[in-house]
Amino acid sequence: MYLEVKDLTVMYDRAVVLNGVCLQVDMGEMVSLVGPNGAGKSTLLSAIVGLVKWEKDTLKGTVAGRITLKGSVRFNGEELIRVPAHDVVKRGLILCPERGRPFREMTVLENLRAGAYLSNDKSLIAETLNKVFNLFPILKSRASQVSGTLSGGERTMLSIGRSLMSQAKLLLIDEPSVGLAPKVKADLFGRIRDVHQLGITILLVEQDVGFAFDLASRNYVLSRGKVIAEGTAKDLLADELIRETYLGL
Ligand SMILES: Nc1ncnc2c1ncn2[C@@H]1O[C@H](COP(=O)(O)OP(=O)(O)OP(=O)(O)O)[C@@H](O)[C@H]1O
Ligand SMILES: [Mg+2]
Repeated sequence: MYLEVKDLTVMYDRAVVLNGVCLQVDMGEMVSLVGPNGAGKSTLLSAIVGLVKWEKDTLKGTVAGRITLKGSVRFNGEELIRVPAHDVVKRGLILCPERGRPFREMTVLENLRAGAYLSNDKSLIAETLNKVFNLFPILKSRASQVSGTLSGGERTMLSIGRSLMSQAKLLLIDEPSVGLAPKVKADLFGRIRDVHQLGITILLVEQDVGFAFDLASRNYVLSRGKVIAEGTAKDLLADELIRETYLGL
């Protein structure tokens, strides 16, 4: 198994956000993770890449509470649960966070180059940049534009492009379609399929269940920090309770 998450539990103070989550992704697979708001999907992706952290308590200006992280995240046979995020990146597990979050004051090209900060291999960087521009021609035409002025769809493409520049082997994409118009969304999903066809393994969190199920070969449904169902789109859609209660279909 390429990625193997076992009994993963995350607690913020006494609030259980992930409760014994088990999930697997094979090399070359595209797997989706769906579920209602607040289910713990983003937390799961963050925990996989070593980014589960307390946020600052804005009222007091201090770090609030205590975090509990238990269980196992194995990638390529190696345990990652205590590996810091900057070392996880080196292994090729890259998170594309919701809304992309590029360095806003930097240009598109600078952002893409920033993705390659771990590499000194100039020809590999040039080759990957070429690949990214082929996948997302819009990024090429916007190369010198400041990233803060990109549209939502372009920002998401930039985030995926930057991950490719980091030599991603496993891409974890968090809600790429949030706030996008239907046509932009359809186009973006086509590009995600192209990225997958380059041989990159993908774990996709997506609120649009129709698109997610269309792209992925297997799917997990997360609710209140627990995996409550797993299977092909056909299996999951055949289950009326799951379809109505968790997928809103
Ligand atoms: N840093 C944090 N500190 C405390 N609680 C947190 C923190 N991050 C997330 N949570 C809580 O954990 C729960 C799961 O949040 P998470 O963002 O993982 O859900 P999600 O499934 O991604 O939801 P959405 O679909 O809205 O993006 C929520 O109740 C959230 O408020
Ligand atoms: Mg989320």
